[in-house]
Amino acid sequence: MLDFVIFAATFLIALLIAVIYLYPGSRRVTSIPGPEPTTKEDGNLSDIARAGSLHEYLLELHSQYGDITAFWMGQELVVSICSPELFKQHAAVFDRPPSLFELFKPLIGEKSIQYANKAEGRRRRKCYDTVLAHDYLHHYYPAIQEISDNLVKKWSSIAKDEHIPLAQYMIGFALKLGLVNLFGSKAWSDEQILEFSHQYEIAWQEMERRLTEGFPQDGSSRMKAFEEAKKRMSEQVNKIIKNCKKHKKDPNEYLLIDAVLESTTDEELVFSDALTYVIGGFHTTGNVLTWAVYFLATHQDIQDKVYKEIKKVLGEEDVDPKTYKDLVYLHQVIDETLRCAVVAPWAARFQDFDSELGGHKIPKNTPVIHALGVSLQNEKYYPVPNKFDPDRFSPENSKSRPSLAFQPFGFAGKRICPGYKFAYVEATIGLVTLLRKFKVKLIEGQVVTPVYGLVTHPEDEIWVKIEKR
Ligand code: HEM
Repeated sequence: MLDFVIFAATFLIALLIAVIYLYPGSRRVTSIPGPEPTTKEDGNLSDIARAGSLHEYLLELHSQYGDITAFWMGQELVVSICSPELFKQHAAVFDRPPSLFELFKPLIGEKSIQYANKAEGRRRRKCYDTVLAHDYLHHYYPAIQEISDNLVKKWSSIAKDEHIPLAQYMIGFALKLGLVNLFGSKAWSDEQILEFSHQYEIAWQEMERRLTEGFPQDGSSRMKAFEEAKKRMSEQVNKIIKNCKKHKKDPNEYLLIDAVLESTTDEELVFSDALTYVIGGFHTTGNVLTWAVYFLATHQDIQDKVYKEIKKVLGEEDVDPKTYKDLVYLHQVIDETLRCAVVAPWAARFQDFDSELGGHKIPKNTPVIHALGVSLQNEKYYPVPNKFDPDRFSPENSKSRPSLAFQPFGFAGKRICPGYKFAYVEATIGLVTLLRKFKVKLIEGQVVTPVYGLVTHPEDEIWVKIEKR
């Protein structure tokens, strides 16, 4: 009888342990605080959808549970961290968890650098980073200036009270900057630029829908629209690659596409990385510029201060690599735009061995989100976080904050955004060229709402008007 009782008790305990560990509803797999999954299949996906986006959900979770929290994306446990102290503990981690970015595979392809980890990821970053390194950037100034001047020419022909679709212009401008500087594609007409960004918009909206609504059925109208948009974008990117291969190289013009072509003979990989850099480059920068002009249009005093700095530092000259660093206030405006608009809300890493973070065990292969956007909105470092205030980034005020409290481009494992220095140069030259010629004002009566996807963009077009200076 005693034997039976011992056997039954052991069996029940084993069963309990199995249930606790196999059913993701249990929090016992980790000591990290966080919510229970709402359903066994979807975990907290419905909570993310209710919050509006992953970024908004992370804001809720971190305010409730603290700097480290864990939740369920479907059946997968995901950890999120948001403080400089915890970021520091993850500062050497390079590998990106494929599962959190799986959604984008149908667009950029599984061979994209986005999914390249370990030695292969590092090898490719090393090859490509040379053309975006600080001491290489001076190559890009003349072309960025020329494209900015062309934008000014176009805006000069716009009547004083005409309504200008800001995001459309800024996205097109950033796309052109990327194509010319990274791919040498000078031949794209405005119509082609518009066509590409239109197709991209369709494809991207579908990607973002998948975040909250799941995958569409094969053959559905959603799927057909996505496939068609992807096909048209692919045709254009393939044309760029073909042109680059065909034309004899000017040895002074070594571009990102040359670095990609030199690093591999795998055509699928070349296509995926080219598309990833086109998208990575224009969507983010286009939105940074959109938000920067929007904030300046709604803060005329700050816009005037930027104008005065441009006059004082540059007079009538263009920006060059020497004067670039003297535009201190403009750079504060760009940083405050990146912070206030939360342009890229999160990054992520994983390790293929058990590890520890903030005193908690992290089971191997668990995705760890770097909640960059939550950190950018932290009241401890940014009082009244929704207020647009470039003085937060004055040299004195910046000193009082840990540098890891401001990482809009990611920070971990030397896998920070490869284009971040290039993006600053693009934004600086673009804004100087526009603001020294025009005063920008917002058309009244608009409600501007941000949509926090993988990149934060306005829900609807932002309309502005300009006055010549
Ligand atoms: C202001 C504009 C930009 C923002 C806010 C931004 C933000 C980011 C962030 C947060 C990441 C993830 C980093 C990580 O995993 O830790 C990233 C990755 C990336 N960005 Fe940017 N980015 C910007 C501009 C650009 C530009 C101009 C380019 C191209 C020239 C670019 C190309 C990429 C690529 C290819 C990756 C993936 C790199 C890899 O897998 O190692 N980005 N970006």
